[in-house]
Amino acid sequence: MSWLGHGNPDDHGIALRVDDVTKTFKVYDERATSLKQFIAMGGRNKYEEFEALRNVSFEVPVGEAVGIIGHNGSGKSTLLKCMAKILTPNAGSITINKRMAALLELGAGFHPELSGRDNVFLNAAILGMSRPDIARRFDDIVAFSELERFIDTPVKTYSSGMYVRLAFAVAINVDPDLLLIDEILAVGDVTFQQKCMEKFVQFRNEGRTLVLVTHDTSSVRNFCDRAIWIDHGEVKADGSPADVIDEYTETMLEAQAAADGSMRRGDGPLRVTKVDVLVSDTRMDRVRTGDDVTFRVHFETPEPVANPVFSLSIASLTGIPVTAPSSRDARAVPVSVDGKGHVDIAVRDLSLIPGSYTIHTEVSGWSRQHLYDHLQHARTFDVLAGDSSEIDGLVTLRPTWTWSGDGVSSEIYDRALPPSPDDDGIT
Ligand SMILES: Nc1ncnc2c1ncn2[C@@H]1O[C@H](COP(=O)(O)OP(=O)(O)O)[C@@H](O)[C@H]1O
Ligand SMILES: [Mg+2]
Repeated sequence: MSWLGHGNPDDHGIALRVDDVTKTFKVYDERATSLKQFIAMGGRNKYEEFEALRNVSFEVPVGEAVGIIGHNGSGKSTLLKCMAKILTPNAGSITINKRMAALLELGAGFHPELSGRDNVFLNAAILGMSRPDIARRFDDIVAFSELERFIDTPVKTYSSGMYVRLAFAVAINVDPDLLLIDEILAVGDVTFQQKCMEKFVQFRNEGRTLVLVTHDTSSVRNFCDRAIWIDHGEVKADGSPADVIDEYTETMLEAQAAADGSMRRGDGPLRVTKVDVLVSDTRMDRVRTGDDVTFRVHFETPEPVANPVFSLSIASLTGIPVTAPSSRDARAVPVSVDGKGHVDIAVRDLSLIPGSYTIHTEVSGWSRQHLYDHLQHARTFDVLAGDSSEIDGLVTLRPTWTWSGDGVSSEIYDRALPPSPDDDGIT
């Protein structure tokens, strides 16, 4: 965590300015690291320059929530480290006009041998808080982190989730006007992530500025005012979350389609030729939570095949399997197939929540000893928000909420999201 605040009177209304930033790393040739070679090269290792960021420019107005997206290794963390002044750009400049707190690498800034308590004081002091101020905030920090029972044990015994909770609790309680967050929330549990998202909404409603790096495009879509896509160290797109994320997802899908050819196994004769995603008999790239969706698997075989078992596996684009229905489990295996045909797998009231998903298909004999065809990424598709407003996880269970208790009002507080701090109250 780091804390900085430089004022610039010319930058009225701008919280953060990134101006033509280039950052290169020296990448040492590992083959030339023997002592003999090291000496032969005059005591210097051979290295190449690697440009992790190239001519990156953008401004973030005060009060904006910006989501930074991009594939692994695209330069997002390097960019945030430059903003936090942990790294110095080789060219260009970064201006910060607000009191900034940054949550970057996991546990950076924590001293492993010290207790959680001592680390809170140490960190908050580094972030510029006075000791009496920290003492006043201490209970809030610990309460937010939910680490009451562990606050006096050394942080080296903490899990990564505990680390993040404590770091986040400190960062938000030192009252920054500009908060930089790099991915780390992914290691917390879902309840804590939800709590953090609530804090972010509160932050934004208070007119503070947020820069958030995340893999979770649906939270950028739902929460951020703007998205910036970093690709191979450059700004590839900068604009509304919907536009930028659509462009990003499309490019990812194309890259995957290009790789499909090499993702086939099995020795035939039956092959899956195509998978369509249909809503009301219309082929779609995008469906919505709650839609009645049909997955149509087209196949082809030059000779008759007896009792073919078809299965479909749906996974998130990040690789987490969601469901894998099979025609054998469904008792829907035809005695034989020949030539061309298709099988429809109809799903009512789709429970997938917004995100990008991929379909793998597999066809085998009844006993599953003989694999006819396995096609990885036979099809990818997007789910957009529909009849559920859940954003965490992969599916909605469509739960029903029922309250009991003498002091619980029967009336439901009816307010559209996002919440504001005015919503909280002790009556
Ligand atoms: N200290 C470093 N030395 C050399 N290369 C680095 C260093 N830090 C990052 N890189 C490289 O820079 C690129 C961008 O990394 P990073 O900013 O961590 O990407 P992201 O956060 O988008 O996954 C990667 O190729 C990474 O290997
Ligand atoms: Mg990173």
